[in-house]
Amino acid sequence: MAGRLKVLTLLRTLSASSCQCPAHSSGMLVGHPHSTTSKEDKEYAFEMACSNIRYGPGVTAELGMDVESLGAKNVLVMTDKNIANLPPMTKVVDSLTSRKINFSVFDDVRVEPTNESFEAAISFARAGNYDAFVAVGGGSVMDTCKAANLYAADRDAEFLDYVNAPIGKGKPVTVKLAPLIAVPTTAGTGSETTGVAIFDHIPLSAKTGIAHRALRPLLGLVDPLHTLSMPRTVATYSGFDVLCHALESYTALPYTERQPRPPHPQLRPAYQGSNPISDVWARDALKTISKYFIRSVEDPEDVEARSHMHLASAVAGIGFGNAGVHLCHGLSYAIAGNVKTYKPELYNSSHPLIPHGLSVVITAPAVFQFTAPACPARHKEAAVLLGGKADVKDEDAGLALADVLRTYMQALGIEDGLTALGFGSSDVPRLVEGTLPQHRVTKLAPRQQTHEQLGDILHNSMTVY
Ligand SMILES: NC(=O)c1ccc[n+]([C@@H]2O[C@H](COP(=O)([O-])OP(=O)(O)OC[C@H]3O[C@@H](n4cnc5c(N)ncnc54)[C@H](O)[C@@H]3O)[C@@H](O)[C@H]2O)c1
Ligand SMILES: *[C@@H]1O[C@H](CO)[C@@H](O)[C@H](O)[C@H]1NC(C)=O
Ligand SMILES: *[C@@H]1O[C@H](CO)[C@@H](O)[C@H](O)[C@H]1NC(C)=O
Ligand SMILES: *[C@@H]1O[C@H](CO)[C@@H](O)[C@H](O)[C@H]1NC(C)=O
Ligand SMILES: [Fe+2]
Repeated sequence: MAGRLKVLTLLRTLSASSCQCPAHSSGMLVGHPHSTTSKEDKEYAFEMACSNIRYGPGVTAELGMDVESLGAKNVLVMTDKNIANLPPMTKVVDSLTSRKINFSVFDDVRVEPTNESFEAAISFARAGNYDAFVAVGGGSVMDTCKAANLYAADRDAEFLDYVNAPIGKGKPVTVKLAPLIAVPTTAGTGSETTGVAIFDHIPLSAKTGIAHRALRPLLGLVDPLHTLSMPRTVATYSGFDVLCHALESYTALPYTERQPRPPHPQLRPAYQGSNPISDVWARDALKTISKYFIRSVEDPEDVEARSHMHLASAVAGIGFGNAGVHLCHGLSYAIAGNVKTYKPELYNSSHPLIPHGLSVVITAPAVFQFTAPACPARHKEAAVLLGGKADVKDEDAGLALADVLRTYMQALGIEDGLTALGFGSSDVPRLVEGTLPQHRVTKLAPRQQTHEQLGDILHNSMTVY
């Protein structure tokens, strides 16, 4: 009892010191685990699932030994066509070869994967009898590999069985997956820490995903040397993804406000809302970003800055993997899914695509101006962590954070709004339509939204500066 009281006091202190806004201080830790749950019951618990991360320059050399320890006899290594010819892949192949490990390579991952490209990877994985998976690349590769692992473990499953409801059936994963080791090469999605695999569902012109703890990699080998080959645009866009993961998880609806409380612990979602432990990771990532993000883009040989950003992507990933993300991501799934002709510089892409981090950050100034009234203290605190000024009134919190964001966006050459990505006002209804099914994340915003308000955020994002 004394122990429990200590924990309660500690958590109260943590929550009180981090934020005084009503949304974050009310209802903290109330609720009764033994009462039967009804629709109105709010959540009272959160769970922190921690990933295995090993970080260090050159740590990829250890991969072969890890695979050997797993006793794997037939490994599938996944990557994309760019990375296949770059040092991260060479290091992986060398390490596996040095331990005489039998492996096959699938290098046909599509950058910004679709249901179609996921299915191609799944067919490949189902055709072999693989007992371990290694993903070498950014989020596109890691997510594709997670899906291939899942559907190879459940050979009879239809593609939509595990896809998030309401688009798919949202079936919980009960089959046993093979171990997956993720070697991230961007800084980055943090996908090495999450049980989420995102793809563009072509029939819907919007992204959706498969989300279950069972998809989480067994180990993330975070080797900062891999990020040295990222072209400027990849470093920029993937860095803004880290920034938005941290900001969205930090400003997400507090977990105690999520309704309904699940009737069984296994039904508690991975994305639970902001909570005192995720907050620690989010704040740490914001501090690192403020110190190293711009440096890491401007000088590709700045090993110190690129290394810190690589670590920050895993740090933010552990935070948002438990707290969730909200509106920037919810809107991005429609923006990316409705791409017209935009092709980013230096991506060498044969198809039009809006890189994930770009589709996420483009609405960020408008999103945080919308959400700030629900939780001004957190927005102000985030702005300060990113280098904004401290003496801001509550009613100016959103503007303060938006201004800081615009400073980063302008410094790093982010396009001037949705217009520059090929959208106009007439696209807003389609983009709202594509955002509505994303309630897994949009519900986690600290302020709920009407269709009109989602439309306003998009209109306000047509230009950014
Ligand atoms: N699972 C999750 O939790 C999660 C979170 C955020 C985003 N995502 C998804 O991840 C995808 C985006 O991933 P990403 O931002 O890591 O980029 P990416 O994997 O799409 O890669 C972007 C481009 O950079 C290249 N590249 C990657 N690493 C490189 C390196 N070290 N050197 C040179 N080129 C390199 C790739 O070949 C590709 O052309 C999106 O599909 C997004 O929806 C998933
Ligand atoms: C090596 O991999 C191949 C192709 O996946 C497979 O057919 C073969 O049985 C494996 N060999 C051993 C010794 O495991
Ligand atoms: C995936 O995409 C294709 C279009 O390329 C579509 O025809 C198909 O129905 C989709 N698959 C599923 C399972 O929805
Ligand atoms: C595109 O090709 C150039 C030249 O081959 C290469 O330097 C760059 O890394 C490639 N871009 C990506 C995203 O891989
Ligand atoms: Fe993201």
